[in-house]
Amino acid sequence: MVKLHDLIFEPYISGEDINKAIDAIAEKLNADYKDECPIFLSVLNGSFMFSSEVMKKFKGECEIHFVKLGSYEGTGSTGEVKTLIGLTKSLAGKRVVILEDIVDTGGTLKELDKILKEKNVADYKIATLFYKPSIYREKFKLDYTGIEIPNEFIVGYGLDYDGLGRNLTSVYKRKS
Ligand code: IMP
Ligand code: MG
Repeated sequence: MVKLHDLIFEPYISGEDINKAIDAIAEKLNADYKDECPIFLSVLNGSFMFSSEVMKKFKGECEIHFVKLGSYEGTGSTGEVKTLIGLTKSLAGKRVVILEDIVDTGGTLKELDKILKEKNVADYKIATLFYKPSIYREKFKLDYTGIEIPNEFIVGYGLDYDGLGRNLTSVYKRKS
């Protein structure tokens, strides 16, 4: 059990299961982007840990860039996605792989789709470590998904509750 601010969280997904899910994603990326130089686009803050593991497991040439988007306050999405740190480099003609910690409503992906279209990328794919299919309401195809979960609020492995819990190496869910 872990206490973060006013809430209690219980163990939910082991570090071992997370590593296996990332290995599977990395294996597919290595096959799909063999002899190419993909641009990994890490969506801060939550995906820093996932991004770092994917990057370490990718065998060929690659680059990583960061954007910071935010829609969550406490344990719920505000519905409005803000760009807090944008892209500075030209990505025209590049193949991009978005690295997300978790896809929930899909609002963040909608904003990223807009940003990447304006940047004239060659194409982009979406990789997410966690996915909540029951509340996803967009149509973007999730090309690489790690672990599907029901509509639970989780922390750990980069994910936070009001800033806390990102350093946990396994995932905890809010205790009901
Ligand atoms: P979306 O835009 O609704 O898909 O939400 C995606 C973002 O909300 C993620 O990148 C996370 O930063 C945050 N988020 C969604 N679900 C959770 C959760 O269960 N715990 C912590 N953060 C979450
Ligand atoms: Mg995120």
